[in-house]
Amino acid sequence: MKCAFLLYPHPNVRYRQSLLTIAQAELSMTLEALGRGGEVRPVTMGGAAFLTFDCDHLTRRDVRMLSQLAGVYVMFTMEDAQMVPMEPEHPNYIGEDLPALLKYKGKTNEMFTDAMLTMALSQSAFMPVHDSQLIVCDPMAGRGTTLMLAARRGYHGVGIEISKGDVKECCDFLTRYLEYHRTKYKRSESALTVRGKVGGRETKFVFSDTAEHFKDGDTRTLRMICGDTRDACALLRPQSVHLMVTDVPYGVQKGTAGRQDTIGGTIGAALGGWQEVLKPGGVLAMSFNTYVTRRAELERQCEKAGLCVVQTPSLEHWVEQAVNRDVILARKP
Ligand SMILES: C[S@@+](CC[C@H](N)C(=O)[O-])C[C@H]1O[C@@H](n2cnc3c(N)ncnc32)[C@H](O)[C@@H]1O
Repeated sequence: MKCAFLLYPHPNVRYRQSLLTIAQAELSMTLEALGRGGEVRPVTMGGAAFLTFDCDHLTRRDVRMLSQLAGVYVMFTMEDAQMVPMEPEHPNYIGEDLPALLKYKGKTNEMFTDAMLTMALSQSAFMPVHDSQLIVCDPMAGRGTTLMLAARRGYHGVGIEISKGDVKECCDFLTRYLEYHRTKYKRSESALTVRGKVGGRETKFVFSDTAEHFKDGDTRTLRMICGDTRDACALLRPQSVHLMVTDVPYGVQKGTAGRQDTIGGTIGAALGGWQEVLKPGGVLAMSFNTYVTRRAELERQCEKAGLCVVQTPSLEHWVEQAVNRDVILARKP
């Protein structure tokens, strides 16, 4: 069976090339994790970019996983030189548009973050079998792109973010979104203790895809903690999250050596705690700007914290003039 997956055409031609690199890696890793390994080839047909591969057979679970691929617009099988669209199995729980609607400076492209989530999942011990309710953490959450992607998939999300303004914007937006869509939810606030003092404030959303599920207690949670990620192991329970997906600061605001050191220092100080809150078999996916943070140094810090860096095809790609991004995947044994 030959498959050809049409990719979303990003309006920025140079970034489109970057997304192709990510989409190819995302598809290859997913096929391998599904036991359907095959070479993924980028092909242009009718002026549009496709990823093609051969496989024997795709099960319903395979199609469900492939329908989640961030970069893929339409999936086709190719039969006798005809392209036949495959019916996607969209597992959207809530908010198909939730991760994309809020626009702000510093937001991570949601298609990229979603691809990181899939790559982390593919390298973890938690590839979903049925409707697994995974817990996804973004330890530097900004205004919550990763958490909203998790909610869309029906996973639980928890974020740590140091900026009060970003936490407020994220929580206010989510409240407006849930109200507008008449989604059943509860919002609550609480203080969290770190070393005997208030070290974080948590805003917790409990919601469901339907009113019936909400009434039955079949709910999901999204928690946003305003706090310092270096306190992750005090703010979160040990071994409580399946996947960690984060985009660390690009450090281009000041562009000084001091600023660069600060980012590396923060990650170095946080990694031990991140490792503690991951479940065994869980995976951290971390993107960073290669102009300010060196891959070798981050890999060394991951290994020092007890995480095993996963060997992947090159994920390095151009984002904008001051940002060249790369991704590290690291697994907790
Ligand atoms: C690249 S941004 C993440 C953007 C996010 N993915 C989004 O789309 O909204 C990195 C974030 O890390 C946060 N940050 C930096 N140092 C932190 C710390 N020590 N603890 C928690 N968050 C921190 C910054 O405030 C910033 O919001």
